[in-house]
Amino acid sequence: MGRYEQQILPRILNKTCDDRQLEPLRRRVCAGLAGDVVEIGFGSGLNVPFYPAAVTRVAAVEPSDLSWRLARDRVSAARVPVQRAGLDGQRLPFEDGSHDAALSTWTLCTIPDVAAALGEVRRVLKPGGELHFLEHGLAPDENVRRWQRRLEPLQRRLVGGCHLTRQIADLLTAAGFTVTGIDVFYETGALKALGADSLGVAVAPPGAG
Ligand SMILES: C[S@@+](CC[C@H](N)C(=O)[O-])C[C@H]1O[C@@H](n2cnc3c(N)ncnc32)[C@H](O)[C@@H]1O
Repeated sequence: MGRYEQQILPRILNKTCDDRQLEPLRRRVCAGLAGDVVEIGFGSGLNVPFYPAAVTRVAAVEPSDLSWRLARDRVSAARVPVQRAGLDGQRLPFEDGSHDAALSTWTLCTIPDVAAALGEVRRVLKPGGELHFLEHGLAPDENVRRWQRRLEPLQRRLVGGCHLTRQIADLLTAAGFTVTGIDVFYETGALKALGADSLGVAVAPPGAG
């Protein structure tokens, strides 16, 4: 990673993702989380205020040291213990079936090998464990998709490898999850190409390990 990715991008993301308009979405995606939770792409901890009381512990997985530092006040104020427990969603340092639930918000766009990351989330979830997701990806409308394909190379360069055209539901299904609920919509106030969101819950198979 260069200086831009290490020193500048995490500050930009901390500001742009800390948007009051996104708070209802963060509250929705966190609703129903319980027990030991792994959050991949923890960033600067913007979901922390929305963890429900039923969450007992959060294992934060985040490669950026600066993002973790920017999360400090939110982590200190958290109602549940939050520890930085890993650096890379593609290789989770946890036992099989060790977590009750998982959380990922606006992160599957950026992880280089997203299939590997989802395989890891599935592995560390207990059978039937839930992955709560809120991700942007391929838009439902072809005219928006055309813009996404045009903009994606620039987006990847400027936003740390962020893709615009990943098909979130398909990726989850291919990783062995059952998507039990999904809401696909355009984020209010965002360009449609950048804000085609999928919010929902995907369940790990019974007996997955
Ligand atoms: C757009 S930010 C979203 C941060 C946070 N989830 C939020 O909702 O504000 C994407 C995050 O994914 C992280 N990330 C990038 N590659 C990753 C990887 N291989 N494993 C886990 N997280 C990764 C980035 O460092 C960044 O914090």
